Amino acid sequence: MAKNVHHHHQHQSKNNTGTKLVLIVSFACLLGLACIVNLLWASSFSFSSSYLRFASTWVSEKPRIFVLPRAEEDPNTTDKIGDVILKRKKGSPSERFLSATFADLPAPELPWEQMPSAPVPRLDGSAIQIRNLFYVLSGYGTLDHVHSHVDVFNFTDNTWCARFDTPKDMANSHLGVASDGRYIYVVSGQYGPQCRSPTARTFVLDTQTRKWRSMPPLPAPRYAPATQLWRGRLHVMGGSKENRHTPGLEHWSIAVKDGKALEKEWRTEIPIPRGGPHRACVVVNDRLFVIGGQEGDFMAKPGSPIFKCSRRHEVVYGDVYMLDAEMKKWEVLPPLPKPNSHIECSWVVVNNSIIITGGTTEKHPVSKRMILVGEVFQFHLDSLTWSVIGKLPYRVKTTLAGFWDGYLYFTSGQRDRGPDNPQPRKVIGEMWRTKLNF
Ligand SMILES: *[C@@H]1O[C@H](CO)[C@@H](O)[C@H](O)[C@H]1NC(C)=O
Ligand SMILES: *[C@@H]1O[C@H](CO)[C@@H](O)[C@H](O)[C@H]1NC(C)=O
Ligand SMILES: *[C@@H]1O[C@H](CO)[C@@H](O)[C@H](O)[C@H]1NC(C)=O
Repeated sequence: MAKNVHHHHQHQSKNNTGTKLVLIVSFACLLGLACIVNLLWASSFSFSSSYLRFASTWVSEKPRIFVLPRAEEDPNTTDKIGDVILKRKKGSPSERFLSATFADLPAPELPWEQMPSAPVPRLDGSAIQIRNLFYVLSGYGTLDHVHSHVDVFNFTDNTWCARFDTPKDMANSHLGVASDGRYIYVVSGQYGPQCRSPTARTFVLDTQTRKWRSMPPLPAPRYAPATQLWRGRLHVMGGSKENRHTPGLEHWSIAVKDGKALEKEWRTEIPIPRGGPHRACVVVNDRLFVIGGQEGDFMAKPGSPIFKCSRRHEVVYGDVYMLDAEMKKWEVLPPLPKPNSHIECSWVVVNNSIIITGGTTEKHPVSKRMILVGEVFQFHLDSLTWSVIGKLPYRVKTTLAGFWDGYLYFTSGQRDRGPDNPQPRKVIGEMWRTKLNF
């Protein structure tokens, strides 16, 4: 187990009440947003020199209510919605209230402490914790440049202590990763910058020798698939298909031991009820959980020689699925407090609970802009309930979380434009930590 786990044996109760609601909500979303929005990602990927160095009070004490001018009265509003949505206006009858699913949830402040930044900023990277060492893999530096190395952080003395290369053929972002405490398995992911396609290639790193080896490729390429080791088998499911956008439902596994595949081919397993990338995949208490995610993602613009990213319709969801012990049935558990995606390495297991940091929620209903998440969520494995336990110093997606010596750490990802603007902006390498008190 890569993550720090305190095992408590728990009886897993069943709960299927979420299924119906999720189906209704997702159907309504599909109906309402059937058209394809084609905006350049570049605008949400720009870099800024001005950013907060310290945690600030970016969330008001009371739940924030977003008030929007009526879109039908001024269609041009949608072009500058990022500036408009956060002006709090009270009581005007010409305004309407929109669903608050994309709003910040009320959450306590946490005393965040800034640690040394990673050697490079990275977006859509991956991370695996092995005891006191945090292996941070690949990711974009900018949309036109991807990393092909690993940076290592030592939680004992809080230093970035090593750097080594990844194989030339290995994907550079949106990897599926899992570890047994020595070997790190890297499955599929996107190869190259912008919105190039995923590869099926699969590798394993021996963290003691820092040598890489290749493994049997996945039956098909997958972009940001949910990946975990469970009972001696590497499980890979969901993600997007070759075009980055179409959700994959397939689920495969292969027996592995000491960094080697024990089988020549991947075995087909029970498909996941809902496909798509950017989900947390966690094995704890001998159960496999898949949390949050989305359907759809940016695709390469047709005919673009550089595979330029262009936005496509996405549905973000808060679904939680648990694979039962016989691996025959997915159970539907209570959903996240709000839809959340881009959390594949944003989780840790602490004291019989799963902690999730940041992410992205549903697009703004009018502007269609991406809205980042700044809450810290906790899923209690004994009661199968969610709570919001705090705020990050800012909203951030695809951040990489670790837990050591009572501290929750996060580094990297893409942060917001500021306390009052939840749209993505700067790609960061910053690292922060806070002591958890429970
Ligand atoms: C929207 O903007 C365009 C270009 O600036 C302008 O021609 C048009 O009149 C505007 N529409 C409204 C309803 O303000
Ligand atoms: C991590 O830091 C501790 C304390 O300085 C040190 O003893 C240990 O060797 C370090 N580990 C690595 C792999 O650098
Ligand atoms: C977790 O459990 C241990 C032992 O029961 C306790 O000492 C610790 O304070 C708890 N909380 C965290 C955040 O580790």
